[in-house]
Amino acid sequence: MPYKIAIIVGSLRKDSLNRRVAKSICAIRGDNLDCRMIEIGDLPLYNQDLDGNPPEQWTRFREQVGAADGVLFVSPEYNRGIPGVLKNAIDVGSRPYGHSVFDKKPGAIVTASPGSIGGFGSNHQIRQACVFLNMPVMQQPEAYLGHVTDDSFDESGCLKDGPLKDLIAKLAHAFHDWVDLIHRSRAALAEDSAHAAQLEKQPA
Ligand SMILES: Cc1cc2nc3c(=O)[nH]c(=O)nc-3n(C[C@H](O)[C@H](O)[C@H](O)COP(=O)(O)O)c2cc1C
Repeated sequence: MPYKIAIIVGSLRKDSLNRRVAKSICAIRGDNLDCRMIEIGDLPLYNQDLDGNPPEQWTRFREQVGAADGVLFVSPEYNRGIPGVLKNAIDVGSRPYGHSVFDKKPGAIVTASPGSIGGFGSNHQIRQACVFLNMPVMQQPEAYLGHVTDDSFDESGCLKDGPLKDLIAKLAHAFHDWVDLIHRSRAALAEDSAHAAQLEKQPA
């Protein structure tokens, strides 16, 4: 079974470069990653007062991310940091306290920009949030995609052949292996502890 991947794009722009990068990743790894774009533009701003009676958009978002085996963030950089709309989505998914939908989910981060440093600042702010959220985030290959423009894509909205597409293909394969590694390790650990518990119950 392919792994279910929730893709969260940090741009609401119709012709977003980052959305097109995300689309390219789905196209490259369609066999083993069942990618689903999770929309975040309609999420009301996070307000702790609403935790007892959450807006239905929050519930929908939490259910969609909660059902995924892994989370892929693909985002621009705004003013050298994480776009507000994405930070809001992360905050919504992280609460109520103790019920974060991100907990333990393997993740990866891609940032793309027409600028030369490829959204490095945004990438690491997302990573910082993921550390706190207890997400094992893939470390390599890093993906700070610089000099991305409309010209980087073909008519279908996917990356044209070239070094950028090669890097994204490498990342898509590595992410599949990362999600697989985390899920297999967890299953093995759970099996080990179930076995140990069974042994403890047996009379000496
Ligand atoms: C409010 C705002 C702030 C921006 N700040 C940065 C920045 O810090 N670094 C950068 O590389 N590009 C910055 N940009 C340019 C974006 O990288 C560019 O608009 C890009 O196309 C946005 O991503 P998208 O195409 O996925 O929407 C900024 C754009 C906006 C609208």
